[in-house]
Amino acid sequence: MTGHIFWQDRPIPFRTGEMVSSALIRAGVIQMGSAPTGQPRAVFCGIGQCQGCLIRADGRLVEACLTPCRAGMQISPEIGGPNG
Ligand code: FES
Repeated sequence: MTGHIFWQDRPIPFRTGEMVSSALIRAGVIQMGSAPTGQPRAVFCGIGQCQGCLIRADGRLVEACLTPCRAGMQISPEIGGPNG
């Protein structure tokens, strides 16, 4: 392990080069927010195409499957937003 990201203030360990989605899933976080329809957001494609893994990382809207972990990164679920 090389550090921690913070999911709603919960520390989540990550490995060097690991994407946020991978670290979250390994820690048991499957639902990453919800769409405007109320459907849960989660990893589906894993390659940045479906937008199912949209989260807020340090205030920016990003795909968790394309975002490398960085020590101290603050992450929160995206509620609503595009592709709802
Ligand atoms: S899982 Fe599809 S964009 Fe991330």
